[in-house]
Amino acid sequence: MKILLTGGSGFVGRYIAGRLAEEGYTVIKASRATGVDFLSLQKAEHWLPHLSDIDVVINCVGIIAEKGKQRFDILHDMAPRALFKACELQKIKRVIQISALGAEHVSTPYQISKNHADQALKQLNLEWVILKPSLIYGEGGNSDAMFRMMALLPIIPLIDHGKQQIQPIHINDVVEATLASLSLSPAHQEIALVGPTVYTFVDWLQLIRKKNGKKRGLTVSSPYFLVKTMSHFAKYLFPMLHPDNLQMLQQGNVADVHGVRKLLGRSPIAAEEVK
Ligand SMILES: NC(=O)c1ccc[n+]([C@@H]2O[C@H](COP(=O)([O-])OP(=O)(O)OC[C@H]3O[C@@H](n4cnc5c(N)ncnc54)[C@H](OP(=O)(O)O)[C@@H]3O)[C@@H](O)[C@H]2O)c1
Repeated sequence: MKILLTGGSGFVGRYIAGRLAEEGYTVIKASRATGVDFLSLQKAEHWLPHLSDIDVVINCVGIIAEKGKQRFDILHDMAPRALFKACELQKIKRVIQISALGAEHVSTPYQISKNHADQALKQLNLEWVILKPSLIYGEGGNSDAMFRMMALLPIIPLIDHGKQQIQPIHINDVVEATLASLSLSPAHQEIALVGPTVYTFVDWLQLIRKKNGKKRGLTVSSPYFLVKTMSHFAKYLFPMLHPDNLQMLQQGNVADVHGVRKLLGRSPIAAEEVK
């Protein structure tokens, strides 16, 4: 089976590409690293030359903050929608879309753009599986690295005492869920990829400390409205601190674990068990 993997150079894409190759699939990675730029692929006909002989498409392109021409509406919505339409025209058997948990809230440009593409995919005459990961942790992840950095600070800065709810999933489970989605029957399923445990944000950071051999850390909390105001300036230095990202954290990022458990045929990995 020949698979077009967009975003194959990213955190999630690299892990998926590695496992697919191990399983004997032929993987064609597509991203700017291989000369494929979503900014110039916004019509179905632009994608057709990339789809000859392809059986399955996995879309793993995404950004967490906009920068210059890298905009949510193009990268998450217009280019993927064009890709999906091209897949329908080319009679590609199946599309696996890596979306994001909470996209259905449609309250930030990140969520709105992801949700547009997900909804468009569902309308097409092809097999689709939409995977919606929560925060993904594991070696090489950007958000994971940022949270690790925060957790190891002498004093941990929190918003509203770190009471936000998250349900992180390990990268290996995201990879196995993607592999299982290749043969999932029936297709046409939207599955939340979450870990087995709901943590408060502060408990997650304290767990990271524990796993790094550190004692519970001291914390300092600021109210959400204050941090959100400051983030309008901080976003220029640290794009991940965009007010929209704080809003999404504040919304919480949890779901029923049943779907991913069924897809994997086991419980997802518990963070406490990961070295
Ligand atoms: N990591 C998480 O915690 C998490 C949680 C929920 C959902 N997700 C979703 O999972 C997917 C993968 O995330 P990730 O963490 O692997 O992100 P990542 O490490 O930042 O990778 C993003 C990928 O998108 C590609 N890309 C960016 N701009 C592009 C463009 N203009 N044209 C073509 N490719 C472009 C990048 O490749 P080049 O730089 O080579 O172009 C890279 O391969 C995203 O859709 C993200 O929204 C991630």
